[in-house]
Amino acid sequence: MIRLGVNVDHVATLRNARGGLHPDPLEAAQLAIASGADGITIHLREDRRHIRDADVAAMRHGITAPLNFEMAGTNEMVRIALETMPNACCLVPEKRTEVTTEGGLDVAGQHHSLRPMVVALKAAGIRVSLFVDADVHQLQASADIGADIVELHTGAYAHGKEGELARLTAGARIAHKLGLEVHAGHGLTYENVSAVAAIPEVMELNIGHFIIGQAVLEGLPAVIARFRALMNAARS
Ligand code: PXP
Repeated sequence: MIRLGVNVDHVATLRNARGGLHPDPLEAAQLAIASGADGITIHLREDRRHIRDADVAAMRHGITAPLNFEMAGTNEMVRIALETMPNACCLVPEKRTEVTTEGGLDVAGQHHSLRPMVVALKAAGIRVSLFVDADVHQLQASADIGADIVELHTGAYAHGKEGELARLTAGARIAHKLGLEVHAGHGLTYENVSAVAAIPEVMELNIGHFIIGQAVLEGLPAVIARFRALMNAARS
């Protein structure tokens, strides 16, 4: 069965908006797992805009399901990964000014800086995933560098770019032939997930923003009903 990894970064975004402890990304992760998710993803960004260092440690101890640690290829993040020992690390490009991860990693161009990080993480027993566009050169470079997994960037597909589904489908096949496990993610929603989930080589989807956003909408009726009951009971 294809696995679902739930990215809980934006629970932290909501929490941080008020500076308190609610809603708790760990509680969201535990609920996601209890509801059928197969793993949890968190991205500790350099600017700590959502997930913070304390969340990483809490998540490591608070869930038994696989933890996927998304990170930029920096020495600081490698150190944190080695201290945390997640099941997998997904290396992503990161620009401080971007709203979200905009493109895939240039594995071919950054071979020399990425390779020691891949080696160090793998030596510690952490599976290494590279977030790449479905481009044959990047896939080949990912295999050459020793990655276990490639996560195909589905952002352009999600934005409706012509030919992207065919590109993802071909990329998944090439990556699989190169011996890489294939994951995919970014911008996936109820409307666009099925076609990607149908690609036979794709073993896992990582989905964040839509799940958390939709959870607000689909969860609202229950929360309103509970407040209504509490307020009514207070006056009865
Ligand atoms: N996979 C990777 C590598 C990502 O960087 C992100 C975004 O943080 C996702 C998946 C999830 O994307 P979205 O939040 O759009 O579902």
